[in-house]
Amino acid sequence: MADRTALITGASAGLGSEFARQLAARGINLVLVARREKPMRTLAEQLRDAHGIDVDILQADLSDPAAPGALFDATSNRGLGIDYLVNNAGSEGPDLIRDEDWQACRDYLELMTISVAAMCHYFVPPMQQRGFGRVLNVASVAGLISVSGDYSYGPSKAYIVAFSRGLSLSMRDSGVRVCALCPGFTHTDFHASAKLTKMKQATPDFIWYDADVVVREGLAALEKGRDVCTSGRLYRFLVPLLRSPFGQWLVSALGAKP
Ligand SMILES: NC(=O)c1ccc[n+]([C@@H]2O[C@H](COP(=O)([O-])OP(=O)(O)OC[C@H]3O[C@@H](n4cnc5c(N)ncnc54)[C@H](OP(=O)(O)O)[C@@H]3O)[C@@H](O)[C@H]2O)c1
Repeated sequence: MADRTALITGASAGLGSEFARQLAARGINLVLVARREKPMRTLAEQLRDAHGIDVDILQADLSDPAAPGALFDATSNRGLGIDYLVNNAGSEGPDLIRDEDWQACRDYLELMTISVAAMCHYFVPPMQQRGFGRVLNVASVAGLISVSGDYSYGPSKAYIVAFSRGLSLSMRDSGVRVCALCPGFTHTDFHASAKLTKMKQATPDFIWYDADVVVREGLAALEKGRDVCTSGRLYRFLVPLLRSPFGQWLVSALGAKP
């Protein structure tokens, strides 16, 4: 097999670092992307030593509309063809209705939705030309179920699910596979804010998964050609239930709008 290269966004922490570890263990060279360089440097050193792979680091803020194009140019200038694209960067966001700083809201939507489309815009056509490509877009179970009070994060992930499905169907027979990975609650730095730490402490342990399980299931689903993967047995059971008419009634009755 020819040398493969994976570009992973949000590789400085959480699921992104775990994608880097699992892809590195398969001998795949890496391009790590995030805003914070230091954690990526530490990870890159560990993975080069452990697996003898090449690891490049590109610092980028994906809420900047120019970032995806600049990343494409930077990889092209280094002679790197990207075979695996993991669009993973993401965060908790502002309140799109109540927050007075609309620019911050726009930046958030840029990071969560447009940057993913833009990364695919730049990196998928060369995959089609080479007849091989793997695109994993990290969404969330929040993109599959609407709940009261979430009109920012969940809807942005719903876009990622719909976008990935459409792209996956369109890539049939091209050698390019596209999958939206929908994790439930996962132990990462995502819940580091005071508000989310409090929420985490108030929820039972059994609804939380480790990042290695989520990443392993996502990569396996991508290889199998599935367009959407809900990770974790609990969430695979819960999501269809909550999307059923009974589940929608239940969610509404509990104060959430399906
Ligand atoms: N953890 C969960 O429970 C959970 C559940 C469902 C879905 N997800 C999704 O999983 C993905 C990864 O999140 P995580 O749980 O691993 O959280 P995390 O540990 O907080 O990691 C988030 C990553 O995204 C990067 N990032 C954030 N804003 C960025 C920006 N503007 N430009 C570039 N990179 C940026 C961060 O790097 P820098 O700060 O260095 O830029 C970091 O590497 C996200 O899309 C999240 O929505 C998480």
